[in-house]
Amino acid sequence: MLDSADLSDRIAEILEAHRSLEGPLLPILHDVQAAFGHIPQAAVPQIAKALNLSKAEVHGVVTFYHDFRDMPAGRHVLKLCRAEACQAMGADRVAGAVKAALGIDWHETTPDGRVTLEPVFCLGLCACGPAAMVDGRLVGRCDAGIVAEVAE
Ligand code: FES
Repeated sequence: MLDSADLSDRIAEILEAHRSLEGPLLPILHDVQAAFGHIPQAAVPQIAKALNLSKAEVHGVVTFYHDFRDMPAGRHVLKLCRAEACQAMGADRVAGAVKAALGIDWHETTPDGRVTLEPVFCLGLCACGPAAMVDGRLVGRCDAGIVAEVAE
């Protein structure tokens, strides 16, 4: 577990590395997420102060972009495509079955910390819909059996 001094030091390093950039907020948030796996709540005031923004402005950007998490992800991240071509191939049905099997909704993590479920809008695998991504690996023509891929 990271203590607040370590977190603050690491955030300060990331802020310093982006000091010369114009419009550095998104690159900073990407680096913070790469470092911690999410954007820790405690990082928001420090980032806001360094960039002369309000905490609400930084929080607004974190919540606007779905790629940023405000909580750590589960051990596996399962993304299901929600875009049109996959919808036409039954993505809604698969999503419903996956949600029921995992007992969670979009952007949630199973209580055992195993799986985080996220929607994604086109994985570039439209001809093989419904498409999914399991921990960064593309899976085409998926069905509810995709849950088995995140079984451990
Ligand atoms: S629409 Fe699903 S991968 Fe493109």
